Amino acid sequence: MNTMVAAAALALLHLFGVSATRASSAQSSSSSPPPAAAGISSCLLSTGVTNFSLPTSPSYTPLLDSSIRNLRFALPSVGKPAAVVLPSTKRDLQRAVLCARNTSLAIRVRSGGHSYEGLSYTTENHVPFVVIDLSNLNHVDVDPGTATAWVESGATLGEVYHAVGLSNRTLAFSAGSCATVGMGGHTAGGGFGLLSRKFGLSADNVLDAVLITASGDTLTRDTMHPDVFWAIRGGGGGSWGVVYAWKVRLVPVPDNITVFSVGRTGPAELIAGLMHRWQYVAPSLPDEFYLSTYIPTVSSSNGNHSMSFTGQVLGPKRLAMAVLSQTFPELGLAEAELSEVSWLESAVKFAGLSTVADLTSRQPGVGQFSKSKSDYVQAPISMRDAVKILRFMATAGPPEGSIQLDPYGGAMARIGSTVTPFPHRAGYLYSIQYGVSWKASDVDRADEYIGWLRSFYAFMAPYVTKNPRAAYVNYLDLDLGTNDWMNATGGTSYGSVGHAASWGERYFFMNFGRLVRAKTKVDPGNVFNNAQSIPPLYS
Ligand SMILES: Cc1cc2nc3c(=O)[nH]c(=O)nc-3n(C[C@H](O)[C@H](O)[C@H](O)COP(=O)(O)OP(=O)(O)OC[C@H]3O[C@@H](n4cnc5c(N)ncnc54)[C@H](O)[C@@H]3O)c2cc1C
Ligand SMILES: *[C@@H]1O[C@H](CO)[C@@H](O)[C@H](O)[C@H]1NC(C)=O
Ligand SMILES: *[C@@H]1O[C@H](CO)[C@@H](O)[C@H](O)[C@H]1NC(C)=O
Ligand SMILES: *[C@@H]1O[C@H](CO)[C@@H](O)[C@H](O)[C@H]1NC(C)=O
Ligand SMILES: *[C@@H]1O[C@H](CO)[C@@H](O)[C@H](O)[C@H]1NC(C)=O
Ligand SMILES: *[C@@H]1O[C@H](CO)[C@@H](O)[C@H](O)[C@H]1NC(C)=O
Ligand SMILES: *[C@@H]1O[C@H](CO)[C@@H](O)[C@H](O)[C@H]1NC(C)=O
Repeated sequence: MNTMVAAAALALLHLFGVSATRASSAQSSSSSPPPAAAGISSCLLSTGVTNFSLPTSPSYTPLLDSSIRNLRFALPSVGKPAAVVLPSTKRDLQRAVLCARNTSLAIRVRSGGHSYEGLSYTTENHVPFVVIDLSNLNHVDVDPGTATAWVESGATLGEVYHAVGLSNRTLAFSAGSCATVGMGGHTAGGGFGLLSRKFGLSADNVLDAVLITASGDTLTRDTMHPDVFWAIRGGGGGSWGVVYAWKVRLVPVPDNITVFSVGRTGPAELIAGLMHRWQYVAPSLPDEFYLSTYIPTVSSSNGNHSMSFTGQVLGPKRLAMAVLSQTFPELGLAEAELSEVSWLESAVKFAGLSTVADLTSRQPGVGQFSKSKSDYVQAPISMRDAVKILRFMATAGPPEGSIQLDPYGGAMARIGSTVTPFPHRAGYLYSIQYGVSWKASDVDRADEYIGWLRSFYAFMAPYVTKNPRAAYVNYLDLDLGTNDWMNATGGTSYGSVGHAASWGERYFFMNFGRLVRAKTKVDPGNVFNNAQSIPPLYS
């Protein structure tokens, strides 16, 4: 299957007049717990899985909510699972999958719960489901001698960093900055972070994995089809089975590295000038440099705009100063703004934490309601357009909106675009993440804020990639389209594949076809599905 076949499937879809319509959420909602709750409970107990919670239990809501990071999906109107199962061994995990199947419940697997669209703990169209929450499968086994680690999927990135950094000051793992993101979903969708320009994505550093399939079998790299081992490393979570654990490559870092976070304030022209210049500098810095920028919608009431820069340099301050004062004098970086710390301390800082011990805290903190979208830029945006973008952001923008620009280049550009499903490699200068968030007190303005974000995204179209307009699967965005499954095992047809190509090619570009092939091999019955999962082609 290639993109041409996907296009043909899409044509078939139109030919047969198939159209996916989203069932109104009111029509199928029901207040009584699904009868399946009793069924799965007795199945789990009969196979020796004891840690699970049913809707009637006092532990149910706290457990369900424990890793809901986006409060939009904790609202009462969102369908709740028939059970939350917390496997504590691989065997428990296998049995949980089998019991869900035996009781015709859809399976939602949750590692860190950071899915931007809540896909690890919700279903489409009120299909009855079970959440298999991996938070008790969070062991990290580091082997400093071979610079590798086996990581259970329920470990958070903070737990991984903690174990790796304490094992050896000069070993690190390449992944994102938020400490409570789960290893399972993050690696499944790629995993970009401050080391990615030097060492690639988390998925680029996966050496082996243990996958539990729809039939409860265990596959490893040696026993799974090569297309499947390829697919699980960036093809998005929730489509292939449950990855129980990952063997990852750890990477060497200096004893001390240089970090900084600096803010800059000024009139639109000054801030646009910095943004404009950043595009030429950040993606072409040496691999040891990571320099991202964040621009909030609202700065101050005095008409000035603001932006901040986050920097990490795998080297001493003097190297950082020498390179940045020459390549980016407009930033006006002062040596006093830099500090030298271990990589582990750097991870603490960029996670917004205070101590190394905080990295293992799973406390969600203050929950927020949010919506995100993503884009990629291949040609620098002109100074004139940068000013327009800032003015758009300052006009009718919500109080807490922002863009985050993450530099690619370096190793990101050297890894081939078909080596893993993640295709955004050579020629991609940077990613844009658009975000808007709000608090419970503003919940009735959600539509207004999300509407603003969508209008901003529409406004940005001329400045970003086209045909397709690329997006990052870990910044999942259901605005791009949904499968609209009506039952626990989803479905399969040319129509489903053609429909899924409309967002799948934006996340995976030419890799979408190979993902469909991998899916058809490993899960032809579509047991593992979600609103944007990869559909199989034949049942
Ligand atoms: C605050 C915040 C910061 C972030 N920062 C970054 C960043 O720096 N870099 C970056 O690349 N991304 C970042 N992300 C995005 C993040 O990588 C994705 O949301 C990722 O999918 C989250 O993984 P999770 O395990 O926490 O989420 P979950 O919601 O648990 O899972 C996400 C998806 O993967 C599936 N899944 C989970 N575990 C497994 C498993 N073991 N096997 C198979 N499928 C599974 C789920 O069913 C779901 O579909 C951030 C997100 C948030 C909310
Ligand atoms: C089940 O797992 C949860 C989450 O880790 C834990 O809080 C709880 O104590 C466990 N329950 C049992 C009975 O082991
Ligand atoms: C699921 O059902 C099948 C057939 O009905 C049975 O053989 C199997 O033991 C069941 N599995 C579990 C985990 O209950
Ligand atoms: C620590 O890791 C470095 C690679 O960064 C390696 O050279 C060194 O031997 C390791 N030290 C120990 C004690 O394992
Ligand atoms: C790293 O920094 C620590 C203090 O933070 C210092 O004691 C140590 O000598 C430094 N190591 C190197 C190699 O510069
Ligand atoms: C706006 O920012 C500039 C720095 O570029 C500063 O000199 C000026 O005082 C700021 N204006 C206000 C009103 O704060
Ligand atoms: C499940 O839904 C799909 C469409 O999403 C449909 O093709 C399939 O027949 C359904 N299966 C069952 C058992 O209802």
